[in-house]
Amino acid sequence: MAGVTETSRGGFSNKLGFILAAAGSAVGLGNIWKFPFEVSDGGGGAFVVMYLAFCFMLCFPVMMAEIAIGRNTNKNAVGAFTAQGNKPWSAVGKLGVVTGIFILSFYNIVAGWALGFAIEMFAGNFSLGQNFGEFVGNWQLNLLFSSIFMIVTVVIVSRGISGGIEKASKILMPSLLVLILALMSYSLTQDGALDGVKYYLIPDFSEVTFETAYGAMGQAFFSLSLGMGALITYGSYVGKKDNMVHATFMILLTDVGIAFIAGLMMFAFIFSQGLDPSNGGAGLIFTVLPGAFESIGPVMGRIIGGSFFVLLSFAALTSTVALLEVPVAYVVDEFEVRRSRTVWIVGLVIFLFGIPSMLGNGTVAFFTEFITYSSGKTVSFMDFVENLASDTFMPLGGLLISFYTAWVWRGDNFKKEIENGNPNFGNSLLGKYTIFALKYLAPIILGSITVITILLKFF
Ligand code: PFF
Repeated sequence: MAGVTETSRGGFSNKLGFILAAAGSAVGLGNIWKFPFEVSDGGGGAFVVMYLAFCFMLCFPVMMAEIAIGRNTNKNAVGAFTAQGNKPWSAVGKLGVVTGIFILSFYNIVAGWALGFAIEMFAGNFSLGQNFGEFVGNWQLNLLFSSIFMIVTVVIVSRGISGGIEKASKILMPSLLVLILALMSYSLTQDGALDGVKYYLIPDFSEVTFETAYGAMGQAFFSLSLGMGALITYGSYVGKKDNMVHATFMILLTDVGIAFIAGLMMFAFIFSQGLDPSNGGAGLIFTVLPGAFESIGPVMGRIIGGSFFVLLSFAALTSTVALLEVPVAYVVDEFEVRRSRTVWIVGLVIFLFGIPSMLGNGTVAFFTEFITYSSGKTVSFMDFVENLASDTFMPLGGLLISFYTAWVWRGDNFKKEIENGNPNFGNSLLGKYTIFALKYLAPIILGSITVITILLKFF
């Protein structure tokens, strides 16, 4: 059943290529755009602690499981389950494909905002932060930027694994890290930054509710691109001899590290500008950062602000590429059609599905006030799709993948797959913990949080 290292599907050229591409998929708008506003929605430090606990204790084992399934079968998220002789479970992969389509439909629009902001920052239009509502309500502009984004994504994915996805990640990831570290250092020198750091790092558990845990869990899955088969797909392009424990740690640390630094930078800026973190919502970084760049000075502010949003767009690009690769790999593998044509068609369908999200930021009332939850909160079409995909489908996918790996594919087979490239895994403490977590912890914890919150939120 074990797959071969290189097939006609192509593959990563080496382990570093895989790590960078998978880290590129993980690091994106989720770390820099979503994480800070989720932290402020979740009340600060306590959310951060829960997020970190989810990442290391539950997401790590789920990530190993996904990569192992992919490498074992050399198949896409749907075909992998069938290849292991468990066809009914391919429904989990199908849920992943749908989740990827949902996420890319709105992610592409936010990525378009980043692109638009890059241009405006270079032009010195720092007042854009105050006019964010107008900016997102301008559908023509959004249509333009998001089509550019989707076209670039399609072009990269159509070039395949090592030529497109891997090459792009190798250049973009390190540049983002350098710029964000520099900005974090600058933000910490601002007056009032310390209050932001305290808000971010000192947890107040008295405010924690089920919804906070649900949000932290969804954020961990979203940020690590987990629970929807993206890593089954990427894992299917990995060499048999590569050490997957090491690779998983590198991906996890890079992703959590960048989110953590981005959070520190954002809260230092928010408090130094005397703003209220709880008012930001999805516009948080777009409303706060232009003012921060302005404070750097007229010339440097433009350069740094413009470069920041360019790199944010690049970070988003390595994620949109992974998001598109999931449905594309499925269609190409299962229906044996040409990759080059499939990519364009799938890209177009997802783009069209994103249009209601684009119009739901003030342009069309129906999509702007799309649904009211039982808590009384009314959200837009885009927020609804985001809540459904990242907070519900992803952890649900993670739950099913854990259960499948431990009980259906079986822990021993999983262990054997990981031992290719890491012979001591089975006997190590980490190996034992990973299997225990897949067997019991993940199904119980993810299951109960998902069920309780769905009941509380949607009914
Ligand atoms: N992890 C990405 C982010 O944090 O921006 C989002 C994402 C990318 C989710 C790829 C899922 C995926 F397959």
